[in-house]
Amino acid sequence: MAELADAAARQARCGEDESTLHQLLVASEIFPLAKTGGLADVCGALPKAIARLGIDVRLIMPAYPEALERLVAPRQVADLAELLPGVSAHLIAGSMPGSGLPVWLVDCPGLFDRPGTPYQDPSGCDWEDNAQRFGVLCHAATRVALGQAIPGWRADVVHAHDWHAGLVPLLLLLSGQHRPRTIFTVHNAAFQGNFPLDRAELLGLPQETMTPDGIEFYGQLSFLKAGVRYADKVTTVSPTYANEICTSEFGFGMEGLFRARRADLVGILNGIDAEQWDPRTDPYLSHHYSRDDLRGKQSCKADAQRHLYLNVDASTPLTVFISRLTSQKMADVVLERLPHMLARHPRLQFALHGCGERKLEAGFTSMATHFPGRASVQIGYDEAHAHCLHAAGDILLHGSRFEPCGLAQMYAMRYGTVPIVRRVGGLADSVRDAGTRDRPAPDATGFLFDDATGEALESALSRCLVLYETRPKRWSELRELTMSGDFGWARSAASYACIYLELSGKRLPALASRVSAYAERPDMRSQPKQCGAGLLQTNQSC
Ligand code: ADP
Ligand code: GLC
Repeated sequence: MAELADAAARQARCGEDESTLHQLLVASEIFPLAKTGGLADVCGALPKAIARLGIDVRLIMPAYPEALERLVAPRQVADLAELLPGVSAHLIAGSMPGSGLPVWLVDCPGLFDRPGTPYQDPSGCDWEDNAQRFGVLCHAATRVALGQAIPGWRADVVHAHDWHAGLVPLLLLLSGQHRPRTIFTVHNAAFQGNFPLDRAELLGLPQETMTPDGIEFYGQLSFLKAGVRYADKVTTVSPTYANEICTSEFGFGMEGLFRARRADLVGILNGIDAEQWDPRTDPYLSHHYSRDDLRGKQSCKADAQRHLYLNVDASTPLTVFISRLTSQKMADVVLERLPHMLARHPRLQFALHGCGERKLEAGFTSMATHFPGRASVQIGYDEAHAHCLHAAGDILLHGSRFEPCGLAQMYAMRYGTVPIVRRVGGLADSVRDAGTRDRPAPDATGFLFDDATGEALESALSRCLVLYETRPKRWSELRELTMSGDFGWARSAASYACIYLELSGKRLPALASRVSAYAERPDMRSQPKQCGAGLLQTNQSC
């Protein structure tokens, strides 16, 4: 008996447990515990799809006040003494609302119990101690991954997301221990987490790593560089963006490093949470609808027009802009061009929801006053309002100077709102252009433009409005096609699972065959760049 109990205990000690794969996801924001953008959506939805494949996935993020409030069944489980010089933390375990996935919050009130966003104070300035704040997250995650924090649990693979988690691959290497393998996902190469080199000691990093061959980056230390440089595998969130970041136009100075890691760099298109974003069941909508019966969409549009003091008119093209108001999203260009577009297209309506740069917020607010009944601007971000606007719109405007993936266009398509997007990054990978009246494209799902200029954006909008106004049948077909796309996480999760399996080196035939089942689906095979042949030929026959 004692021998059996011992064997069971040994099996339960992960790393030796050959029944499944144990994965730790590290991120600064995970929906619904905390969200400032798409990173949270991805880190909320991807692990659900990974867990469905049978992988033991655990999440770790900072204990912001809103995260502590929303965590289900919180309990303190570990004391992490001296994570950084003079900084200790606790781990609070609980589960995610909805999915029930296990999550650990790194509780360090001095660093995380603050008003504002995860990154900025209420006046919009970055927290001055962000290096320590996310350094603590990385050290805590490293201890958990190595099995030094939670008795009986260690990771086979750590999936670190964006710069906030970038030190994890380096810290694991520095631990000198038998370590889990690492995968680092770049959601946005523009955000790099660069800090003065003299923070190295505060972050518990040896001086030897502060070199160009280490994590020094133009005279600073860079969390993003640490992730890209030291992870076993690097991914980004669309195949096109994986190519783009290897160029000086999109690499934000890190293109050389991305090129150096090209063999280990894979672009996997994000999915969306198809349960949270489903017009047939979305609890935020007052009317539901589907591709086969769009009456509910018309009612959502009428409700939104009333609520936003727009002229209530079913036939007017309602164009929505739901985004952070930043130069990445070309919000400055939209603001500059909008009065012209509204003047030129007298039936056009415009509704914006988002927040960001203060100057842009003020500019849009003031612009709307000049177009009563035709333009509405709601500054801020409210999940319910975002869902309602995606449902109400006919057209989504999504210009981007660069866009690693972009989720708004996928939400829009699922809600039958035709996207107009710039041909970059994940926008190029997820939207097919409708062409022109003379040369229509039969499989189109939206409108694309090339240059990051007001002229290009307006010309795409004009093409779209011509179709909307003059060819209702063709418009309905286009909308039907936009709603038919499969943007769920299943196939992208299978691509990640292939990587986890390969990295872990574990032989898990049952898991490998579940992953293969997805990989063999016809729609998977039609995604050539997403899950490269090399990935699929692992020793797991995945
Ligand atoms: P990004 O992460 O670059 O902002 P994505 O398209 O990937 O762009 O993700 C946008 C997500 O963030 C969507 O869920 C969208 O509804 C939401 N969102 C848009 N604007 C804001 C905002 N100002 N604050 C928080 N979330 C926002
Ligand atoms: C970043 C990118 C966005 C992407 C999101 C989730 O915020 O800007 O394009 O969709 O991460 O990966």
